[in-house]
Amino acid sequence: MVDEREHQSLWTVSAPARRYPSLPGDLEVDVVVVGGGIAGLTTAWLLKQEGKRVAVVEMHRILTGQTGQTTAHLTELLDVSYATLASDFGEKGARLAAESVRASIEKISSLVERLGIACDFQRLPGYRYAETDDEAQQLEREATAARQAGLMCSLTQDVPLPYPVKLALRVEDQAQLHPRAYLQALAERIVGEGSHVFEETQVTDIHEGAPCRVQTTRGVLLCQEVVEATTTPLNRVLLHTKLMPYRSYALAARLEAPLTPGLYYDSKDPYHYIRTQRLDGADYVIVGGEDHKVGAEEDTARRYLALAEYVRQRFPASRVEYRWSGQVIEPVDGLAYIGRNSGSRHVWVATGFSGTGMTFGTLAAMILSDLILGRDNRYASLYDATRVKPVAGARDFVHENAEVAFHFVADRLARPDTHDLSDVPPGEGRIVEVEGRKVAVYREASGGVHALSPVCTHLGCHVHWNNAERSWDCPCHGGRYSPTGEVLNGPPVKGLASKKIR
Ligand SMILES: Cc1cc2nc3c(=O)[nH]c(=O)nc-3n(C[C@H](O)[C@H](O)[C@H](O)COP(=O)(O)OP(=O)(O)OC[C@H]3O[C@@H](n4cnc5c(N)ncnc54)[C@H](O)[C@@H]3O)c2cc1C
Ligand code: FES
Repeated sequence: MVDEREHQSLWTVSAPARRYPSLPGDLEVDVVVVGGGIAGLTTAWLLKQEGKRVAVVEMHRILTGQTGQTTAHLTELLDVSYATLASDFGEKGARLAAESVRASIEKISSLVERLGIACDFQRLPGYRYAETDDEAQQLEREATAARQAGLMCSLTQDVPLPYPVKLALRVEDQAQLHPRAYLQALAERIVGEGSHVFEETQVTDIHEGAPCRVQTTRGVLLCQEVVEATTTPLNRVLLHTKLMPYRSYALAARLEAPLTPGLYYDSKDPYHYIRTQRLDGADYVIVGGEDHKVGAEEDTARRYLALAEYVRQRFPASRVEYRWSGQVIEPVDGLAYIGRNSGSRHVWVATGFSGTGMTFGTLAAMILSDLILGRDNRYASLYDATRVKPVAGARDFVHENAEVAFHFVADRLARPDTHDLSDVPPGEGRIVEVEGRKVAVYREASGGVHALSPVCTHLGCHVHWNNAERSWDCPCHGGRYSPTGEVLNGPPVKGLASKKIR
């Protein structure tokens, strides 16, 4: 296989975005929405429709966060099984979860139709399939739970994939789209009548009050309500104990023989997710997977190779033309956290979307816009961001927080990658011990050396080098920094400190 376009999603290349200005100075609006991904842009659009003056504030360019890295399956098949949801949230909770995701797919469908957005929106079936007898047995149990939750689904052996599968759970009326084409159309409609989209404007602090003050790198925004639609909320310590950051990888390979459009998922752990997309007259298969905890993989480039091999063995596709990766934030009890931030009246959060953030992001917009407008929302209490479920997710809660504590201590005591600066190859980063101190060192391709503190500015864990994406990644809550220390991904809002080395 030949890799042509390094680490850019097919969406980013095929739908370059319009530029928006940065915040020109202090400004007052009704609602500030932090983050220009699907959750932020949809929330802003829904609120503007109801007469609110909104400002979307994005620290990079809109749709370059996880929404730019998605594979945009719109599916009722969640990362958590319906059997687990029924056991942890009750059968009523599982039914409400399924209904809410269906409602979010309907919301996207109705916006696409009403606004006439050309974004390849397409209804198609979804299949979760089993390749072994064990997987087939699990699938039979899940089929019962999914039916009880209200999914329109059936078990079948008729799956239009070019390799054998034993059994599949087929769910009707799922959907897919081109995420950037869809959301750019929403972003363009947000601007005007007192509403704005600002890029390259980082929010550094939020002071709740009447009015709320949102401090940015370009000025202060005053408003009544603030929505944090930032994938992981800024500096919120309590909520971070309920979130687990994973990295997921995707690639698009040009098909040499047709593949029936559909949403396909195998039953491995982590699972692979598969769809097709037509672009400029060519058909692509898009395959994702190879997930791992952030910072837990020393050789992230290996994950792309494994995914390419998976495609080579299963699909009539010879060229990988696009590959990309991003972060998926898993909630400890399986459902997203959407609602008031704990202890706040006017600060709202939307996070923990798992691998189904296109639907949960849209659902967040539906719930938050209703609550901000003072309306009831039938899904609000299920997704309440302040919930603590003593049984659901308790094991993951303890395990994940023990892991954070482990990283906090163990990464400080761990041996550095090297003691010798000359061991850092061009274009790479290493943790180097210099004069008894650990330093995160990045060497440019041209030879210039950048020395940084390895201490994450969020809560002090040590960052790890990610060789596939050339970034410093924090294993504790998924913060990411560029090779020279600028924040790429929250929750940190401050870059890594520079260090002087001889
Ligand atoms: C490889 C991959 C495949 C996926 N596939 C699917 C799929 O098939 N179906 C599905 O439903 N979901 C999928 N997901 C998940 C889904 O894409 C995400 O959950 C969703 O896009 C998250 O949207 P968001 O708006 O919350 O975050 P984002 O799109 O990340 O937007 C948040 C924005 O906030 C900005 N920001 C952060 N901090 C600040 C600050 N301090 N100031 C200003 N701006 C800030 C960021 O720059 C970012 O642009 C996938 C994810 C990945 C990584
Ligand atoms: S992201 Fe929380 S300590 Fe680094």
